[in-house]
This record gives sequence, structure tokens and C-alpha cells, in this order.
Amino acid sequence: MEQTLFESVDQYLNNLFQFEDEHLQAAIQSLKKNGMPQISVSPSQGRFLQILAALCRATRILELGTLGGYSTICMARPLPENGKLITVEFNEKHAKVAEENIRRAGLSGKVEIRVGKAMDHLKQMVQQKEEPFDLIFIDADKEPYKEYFQLALQLSKKGTLIIADNVVREGKVLNEHSDDVNVKGARRFNEYIASCKEVTATIIQTVGVKEYDGMALALVK
Ligand code: SAH
Ligand code: DHB
Ligand code: MG
Repeated sequence: MEQTLFESVDQYLNNLFQFEDEHLQAAIQSLKKNGMPQISVSPSQGRFLQILAALCRATRILELGTLGGYSTICMARPLPENGKLITVEFNEKHAKVAEENIRRAGLSGKVEIRVGKAMDHLKQMVQQKEEPFDLIFIDADKEPYKEYFQLALQLSKKGTLIIADNVVREGKVLNEHSDDVNVKGARRFNEYIASCKEVTATIIQTVGVKEYDGMALALVK
């Protein structure tokens, strides 16, 4: 495939900054080896998540959608000694591969993988009055993003940052008649956060080595 300008620039940035250490590279290799989808956040986006986690001074992080634990590792890195990241994954094989990657990265003590559906775990955490999180990263199935966000709000406090990946879908969100469930989910989500009074929100378009997409950032008031 022809490399786009955005891909070439992202590659240039990867070479310059060396975003990926051996553990992140190993996580990517593990996806290939296990025939898992290559849909982790990109290296530069991983660094962006790491910076946001540090900026939030996060001690408690929640992630929906673990895959091989690439974004998990990025966000868990700035956690303090007593910090904790809970990541939810419904595919047992993905959870197993992620567990190994997280162990290799030396983060097992701070990361807890919860196997099961994101919705079930979210509802359970709300019900059990789980302590609020400082950072919540939504990156599981796209259709119920709005509901995930509403539940995430209930697990938030003032200053919590809620991030949602893949909300632009190669610009397909422009199509109000799309019958793609991912696009419909993103459109519903985007409309919801745009008028949600409880957050200050934006969406940043993302380009580079991955598909053209976007990340939503919502700061709880
Ligand atoms: N955050 C990861 C990528 C996640 S890909 C990274 O950037 O490294 C999306 C993941 O969500 C997949 O592993 C998929 O199995 C999982 N998933 C999809 N639907 C889910 C659901 N309903 N509940 C929990 N996990 C789900
Ligand atoms: C898909 C999911 C993702 O989390 C991602 O970053 C890219 C694509 C998908 O399901 O198509
Ligand atoms: Mg994603």
C-alpha cells in the first residue's frame, strides 16, 4: 500500500522519539503471534495517553478494552507505587496475552485485568460504589459508547478525564445515514458529549500509522 504523508510523518516521529521500548514492541509482536487484531493505539498515541495519565496525576485508572495491553502499559507507567489500573476485556485469549505483556513490562502489581463485558463490570462498579477514577479510557466495542460514558461519569469526580478512542472512523461520522454500527455508535456518543453539561469536551482527529480516526477528551466539571 502506498504510504500516505501522515504515515510517513508518524514514522519519522517514531524514529525521532523512539516511543516504543522493548516491552511495547513485545506487546505488538504478541498480537501478531497470536493472530489478534492490530488495533492498539499507535506509538505516538500511546505516548500521548502516558502524558495524559501523568498530567492527571492519576492514581486510579479504568480502561475498557484491553486487547494486548499496549495502551494499558502506556497509561500504567506514570502510576505511583500505590496506583492502580483496572482494565476490562471480554475475550479470554486477549486477557491472557495482555497479562503476559503486562507482567513482562513489570506492571502486574499495578494492573488488574477483569475478564467480562464492559457494561457488566461498569454497572457492578457503580453498584458497589467503587472509588472514583482519575482517568477512564473507553476503547471497547463502539456501539454502546454513550452508555459506557454515562456509567463512566458515575465513576468520576471533578477533574476526572474521560477519553474515548475511535470516534471519527475515517470521517464516516459525517454520514448521518450510515448503517455501520461503529459509526452510529460514534455519532451517538459524539452528540451526547457535545451537549453534556457535566464535562468540558473536545475531539482531536488522529492521523498517522493507523487509520484516520479521532479521540474524544472529556474533563469532568
Ligand atoms: N485499548 C487497546 C485496544 C483495544 S481493542 C490498545 O489500544 O492497546 C478493543 C478490545 O475490546 C478488544 O480486545 C475486544 O476484545 C474488547 N471488547 C470488545 N467488546 C467488548 C465488551 N463488550 N466488553 C469488554 N471488552 C470488549
Ligand atoms: C477498531 C477498534 C479500535 O479500538 C481501534 O483503535 C481501531 C479499530 C475496530 O473495532 O474496528
Ligand atoms: Mg481503539
